[in-house]
Amino acid sequence: MDATSRSGDISRRDLLKAAGGLTFLALVPAARGRFALDVRPALDRVPPLFTALPYVQPGDNSRLVANQERAILAWQTDATPADFRVVFGPTTQYGHTADVTVSRRSTLDTEDAEARLNYTAAFPGLRLGTTYHYRVSLGAERIAEGYFTTRKPRGTPTRFVAFGDNSYGDISDRAIAYHAYRARPDFVMNTGDNVYEGGLDNEYARYFFPVYNADLAGRRIGAPLLRSIPFYTVIANHDVHGKTAEQHPVADFDADADSLAYFTNMHLPLNAPIHPQPTPTVGDAARLEAFRACAGDRFPRMANYSFDYGDAHFLCLDSNLYVDPTDAEWQAWMADDLSGTDAAWKFVVYHHPAFNVGVEHYQEQHMRVLAPLFERHGVAIVFHGHEHNYQRTRPIRFAPAGPGAAGTVNAKERLVPGTFEVDAEFDGRRVTRPNGVIYVTTGAGGKHLYDADFTGQPSRWLRPEDGNVAYVDRLVADRHSLTVVDVRPTQLTLRQVDERGGEIDRIRITRRAAGQAAVRSRAGDGPPAVR
Ligand SMILES: [Fe+2]
Repeated sequence: MDATSRSGDISRRDLLKAAGGLTFLALVPAARGRFALDVRPALDRVPPLFTALPYVQPGDNSRLVANQERAILAWQTDATPADFRVVFGPTTQYGHTADVTVSRRSTLDTEDAEARLNYTAAFPGLRLGTTYHYRVSLGAERIAEGYFTTRKPRGTPTRFVAFGDNSYGDISDRAIAYHAYRARPDFVMNTGDNVYEGGLDNEYARYFFPVYNADLAGRRIGAPLLRSIPFYTVIANHDVHGKTAEQHPVADFDADADSLAYFTNMHLPLNAPIHPQPTPTVGDAARLEAFRACAGDRFPRMANYSFDYGDAHFLCLDSNLYVDPTDAEWQAWMADDLSGTDAAWKFVVYHHPAFNVGVEHYQEQHMRVLAPLFERHGVAIVFHGHEHNYQRTRPIRFAPAGPGAAGTVNAKERLVPGTFEVDAEFDGRRVTRPNGVIYVTTGAGGKHLYDADFTGQPSRWLRPEDGNVAYVDRLVADRHSLTVVDVRPTQLTLRQVDERGGEIDRIRITRRAAGQAAVRSRAGDGPPAVR
């Protein structure tokens, strides 16, 4: 339901009609970002206030394995203890009881109004591409009932939406959440800077959960996405927003005791080795220990991961300034990951765009050194955020002149010069087989925009440092937008949708039915040449 045209009170029936994957909810808004039971329960103690309504997370799934699919249902309350029970199953008869675990997210302040309990219910042994129902109860009281669909197997049409640089309480965040919901995606792939300013737990509570798990769908409200749609994201600069004395990024637990909420609110695959340059932390030892106890195995491992969905494989990377993309160990893991999948389409997702012509972040080019690796392994599209606008390149083959400043960790200027080979024939309409990798920056997800006056001005999309090579094909910076991608075994369609629902870009990419090559070589349809 679209609530934007409504006025006056919202009836309970309307709320449930609008509630996405929830079919019953016994919680009503009690204060900003807090929800209370709407009945006086027959409980022997006071029930907690909810600070995040139930939300579905992908959990630790990477490859698609029949009958071994898992999912996580998570929710958060204030610090009042409670004994939740969760059942799940393929029908509303449920039939299975989930393991429920709880961990405390605490600031350790004596007057800790922000302390909360993070709950998860684990659903193991699921079938792929199947809808499951769940019920959360407290004593005899039903709290929430809903449903979600597991990852689709190979050969099944899939739609995902991508956007980044979003949650900060702005009206534009809500419009993008609304259009993401209107697109009816199978999942969300966020490109980082999901929550401003510091990736803090209290910022998730204020800016993320109320908008992306809103009870109603509306341009000025947000949408009930998270309760039934898995939300993937990557760690980005605003998740690690503290500074050392040398002005290097660090998660500073003295400044913000609820730092690094990426690692406590998200439940993403844990299939990567611990990174050679893990997310740096400083601060009081007890606060750090409290954070680690809540994050468990997720910190620091979850900064990198990969997963499959339908005919696509996603490699998700930490591109923060503390990482060195020339690191041989890390590159070896990426190469193993990309060569070890039989998915028709390979996508890479990280926050700092390797190829962008914007003013704000052009110099953070360290991830450029990975371009040859991505080309070698037939990556179709790399998705980023960071630059707050939309930029789509033509298919690119890039040969770095050397590592440049890619390995100079924590430097602001990390230029990587090199030579470009740009596929100018590909137009995404008549010519649909790209020769090279397409780089999409979709950082117009809600935060204030950069370089609005670049829109419609291709002469401004050239950088002398890059020899004025016209690698950007489309740039829209005067409005917020999100990316909608439809994936089929032999073709994909990428559309960019603006905050009013209008289409501002569209390309179609095709590939042969067999083999891994998603690109066209000079000689015809063979695999790309290894450079
Ligand atoms: Fe950013």
